[in-house]
Amino acid sequence: MPATEIAPLRIGDLVIDPPILQAPMAGFTNAAFRQIVRDFGGAGLLATEMVNARGFVWLDENEAEHPDRLWGVADEPRPLAVQIWDNDPETMAKVGRRLVEEYQVSVVDINFGCPVRQVTQKAHSGSYLLREPQRMHAIISQLVEACSPTPVTAKIRLGCHPDNINCNEIAKVVEEAGAAALTVHGRTAADMFRGNADWDRIGEIKSHLKNIPLIGNGDLDSAEKVVTAFEKYDVDAVMIARACLGRPWLFAQAAAALRGEPIPPEPTLIQQRDVMMRHYQLVVDRFGEEKATILMRKYACCYAQGKHGARFFRTHVAKVSTAEEFHQVVQEYFPVAVPEPTDSRSSQPAPENG
Ligand SMILES: Cc1cc2nc3c(=O)[nH]c(=O)nc-3n(C[C@H](O)[C@H](O)[C@H](O)COP(=O)(O)O)c2cc1C
Repeated sequence: MPATEIAPLRIGDLVIDPPILQAPMAGFTNAAFRQIVRDFGGAGLLATEMVNARGFVWLDENEAEHPDRLWGVADEPRPLAVQIWDNDPETMAKVGRRLVEEYQVSVVDINFGCPVRQVTQKAHSGSYLLREPQRMHAIISQLVEACSPTPVTAKIRLGCHPDNINCNEIAKVVEEAGAAALTVHGRTAADMFRGNADWDRIGEIKSHLKNIPLIGNGDLDSAEKVVTAFEKYDVDAVMIARACLGRPWLFAQAAAALRGEPIPPEPTLIQQRDVMMRHYQLVVDRFGEEKATILMRKYACCYAQGKHGARFFRTHVAKVSTAEEFHQVVQEYFPVAVPEPTDSRSSQPAPENG
């Protein structure tokens, strides 16, 4: 139960209430997933997957369809953030302007945190740019000008490497360049996802910002941890990524906890299975059965994660390629039963936690 009332987050003129954000996740946070998150409520701001600005421009110039990652963006409820990445200020500004004018997005977010080789080494973008604060400044300021009055935000890591943590300096650059909020994932790029997010470092950044809000991100996987993040660290909002993939109701639980209300229980396992099937249907509606079934494998694993028998389910669902197979595997293997307590010599598979 929070000791003090938690204020809504303000990003420019936009009011985000509750101040709990759904993180951008490539390969996951498409329109179907966002719809499921919205069904449960509790997320104040949702985000797309990261969209490559250069790719967008290329498609545009070649009169091809806009990136698949913009599926749903034009029509779905607001507020909605679209995240873009590249290292060229002009390209970013061009795409930002299109997103604002044509798609009327609520927020344009810049990815300065991606640690994947394809983005860093090959394209000198994402977290690579944390070593080039001046370029960051140029990207942000040109994008801010192009998108005005729509707010532009930046998402960073603590630095490129544990030996080169420069998030405090970067925070100042981000604010000076005109960004309306800063999100920090409390790891360095070299850490990838190893170790724990360093929330002390995240909290420290607040004193280096003058006016813009700080959004903390990393390892939040329960309503209690969300409340603690607000109470212990000086953040204005939090962002949740991996933990919401198989538990899209987590935002509603965290929001209730922030209001000081009882935390809604986890849905029953059968309800969770039904949520997954609704999610599947949304993906089928968009991509057709064949593509949707392949796409759904990874989400299905997320829904089963941590449950008794998840390993069996995962093994089988990883091979499905038709709707019929998917339904059959879900029917047969999705963990819907809580096991009877057994002794340690039992041959049942052990519950998994990750
Ligand atoms: C599969 C996956 C895809 C991700 N894609 C993006 C992305 O497109 N843009 C981004 O800024 N961060 C991305 N991230 C990082 C998350 O947004 C978040 O910063 C990170 O997972 C830490 O938060 P968590 O501990 O709550 O998962 C991704 C993370 C995962 C696991």
